Amino acid sequence: MSLLQDELADVETILAERAASPVATIPDLTSYLIAAGGKRLRPVLTLASARAVGGRGGDAVAKLAAAVEFIHTATLLHDDVVDDSDLRRGKAAAKNVWGAAASILVGDFLFARSFTLMVETQDLRILDILSRASCVIAEGEVRQLAALGRPDLPVPEYMAIVEAKTAALFEAAARAGALTGCNDEKISDSMGEYGRRLGRAFQLVDDLLDYGGLTSVIGKAVGDDFREGKLTLPVLYAREAADARDRKFWDRVMGAREQNESDLAHAIHLIRSSGAAERTLEAARMEAAAARSALGRAARGEFHDELAGLADYCVNRAF
Ligand code: IPE
Ligand code: IPE
Ligand code: MG
Ligand code: MG
Repeated sequence: MSLLQDELADVETILAERAASPVATIPDLTSYLIAAGGKRLRPVLTLASARAVGGRGGDAVAKLAAAVEFIHTATLLHDDVVDDSDLRRGKAAAKNVWGAAASILVGDFLFARSFTLMVETQDLRILDILSRASCVIAEGEVRQLAALGRPDLPVPEYMAIVEAKTAALFEAAARAGALTGCNDEKISDSMGEYGRRLGRAFQLVDDLLDYGGLTSVIGKAVGDDFREGKLTLPVLYAREAADARDRKFWDRVMGAREQNESDLAHAIHLIRSSGAAERTLEAARMEAAAARSALGRAARGEFHDELAGLADYCVNRAF
């Protein structure tokens, strides 16, 4: 995002500096993951939200954006252990290089580091927003554990998990950014709503990409959710539309988790042919539209347009 190039460069500097530790595994593992790239969506959200409501950037918001990215990075380290995922940002997952124990512990370090950064913003409201979001993310991840292997997972429960594990941090990133930018609770509430809706759209599309995205684009292995028996919206919709035979298929592969080599390809076929893929995309489009309308109530100028563009990107990356 060229408008934010300089501010993002400041955030990268903070990320590199604050990964420092005399314990070599910590900077080694952290810089491996940070250097692998990542879209930096959440820090962009924080920086652009601050500017879109009249803020001027500066040290505090850069630290806030770095804190948000550290929380995200910590959850990725933990998540790849929980999900037993082998690929992240196009490289071997850190757990496959340093082991699961190191991944969890370095994740804890990054979480703690993010709190130091928040304290340095000297704004208790920031700490309030991001500490709450961190609890909600953990709740979402734990809640998802209980949903594994449940083909009859109700769609509202799936949405509640998405809201917690993903949308909560998007919401917090936008809300906290806006608060530092304008100090107005009402405006930051609208920006939080924008972030929340954006996060929901983002995760729905991410779940769709798990069935038919390109590994070279998403940097993750296609079919991770399938292999893990993780019920996501494309599967819930496909199962809803299924006849008795296809329902048996879903219950075998996702419920009993008995899978053979051709099952993922068949699952992808069913998700497309049943209209479940299109339905998931439509749900994401509606979230993105709701994001844009919340944005319209709070933001203005070129940063408004950048954030509106992010809502389009979250949906369009499906193609
Ligand atoms: C991955 O988030 C976790 C999800 C919420 C799906 P991103 O896709 O934003 O991860 P990076 O930072 O770009 O790698
Ligand atoms: C994303 O979880 C949310 C968190 C990491 C907290 P997922 O497990 O759905 O995301 P990916 O597919 O591993 O990126
Ligand atoms: Mg995962
Ligand atoms: Mg996960």
